[in-house]
Amino acid sequence: MDLDIKKIKEQAIKEIEGVKNSEEWEQIKNKYFSRKSGELAKLLKDIKDVSEDLRPKFGAMANQVKDELEKALDIKMSELKYKGNGNLERDFIDVTLNVEKYKLGHLHPVTQISMELEDIFKSMGFMILDGPELESDYYNFEALNIPSWHPARDTQDTFYIDPLTSSGHDPQLLRTHTSPVQVRAMQKYGAPLRCVVPGRVFRNEATDASHEHTFYQLEGLMIDKDISISNLIAVMKELLSGIFKTEVKVRLRPGYFPFVEPGFELDIQCLICGGKGCPVCKQSGWVELLPCGLVHPNVLKYGGIDPKKYSGFAFGLGLTRLVMMKYKIDDIRLLQSGDLRFLNQF
Ligand code: DAH
Repeated sequence: MDLDIKKIKEQAIKEIEGVKNSEEWEQIKNKYFSRKSGELAKLLKDIKDVSEDLRPKFGAMANQVKDELEKALDIKMSELKYKGNGNLERDFIDVTLNVEKYKLGHLHPVTQISMELEDIFKSMGFMILDGPELESDYYNFEALNIPSWHPARDTQDTFYIDPLTSSGHDPQLLRTHTSPVQVRAMQKYGAPLRCVVPGRVFRNEATDASHEHTFYQLEGLMIDKDISISNLIAVMKELLSGIFKTEVKVRLRPGYFPFVEPGFELDIQCLICGGKGCPVCKQSGWVELLPCGLVHPNVLKYGGIDPKKYSGFAFGLGLTRLVMMKYKIDDIRLLQSGDLRFLNQF
């Protein structure tokens, strides 16, 4: 019986290999697979007569042969089709043909500038941190010395996810600036601390060429013993010469932000006219770049840091604004538009 099965298989394979056209293929298929008179059907019948203990073994062998023959027939059929129907020509691929190149994208100009700045700050020992875009009223305002009654809230209207009137828990909103990460970082890492926080921020704005509901900032914070305005100016100069690749003159004017005391607006000497006066600097010789200041003692306290032992400076660089200055972009809305005709220029 063992031998019979093997013999049938060998014979069948030989015959299948010799098939030259579809009629022969059909004949061979019938010879072996016909339900009533096929060789395999006969074999299965014979297996019924084998003793019960050997039956499973022969059954399995017969099934295996059946599978192998089916496969061999399939292969033969595809060979016949391929040769017979001229598919060779149809399947021909001209591998020398030029195809359109796969177009790779690139980083958004805001991301590019953010990464450049991150490198500069890393070289000065700053950590790069992240914070939630969906922020609580507490971190966005309260812990930055802006209580609910404070008029400074009016300058930063935003989108409230959970209205201010809801009771029992801290209202949720889209953060209006990256400054809330100051307090989060202080609470997490304590002092001394050096970090920058690039990120997306939101305002409830009527949009026009210079206002957008979504834009990017880079927050900076340095806390240590005896930090003063000199440290602030030194770090700012290092940053600016890193960005503009030349030494930049800076000046500080008083500015008001509830979370710094004293607070400043930092201006840079106009790089277009070298300070002589031109349309870009509105003939003043100076261009406003970023707000900054020494961290308010109340904010240090919210962060769990003792203002008697430590002091620090903070600044808020407008990344979107910096990109606009660098590339002379005159409409802020282009940056969020996703318009490839615009983006492909960078
Ligand atoms: N968070 C402020 C804003 O978005 C900007 C700012 C001002 C950040 C002064 C600071 C700072 O860290 O010291 O308007």
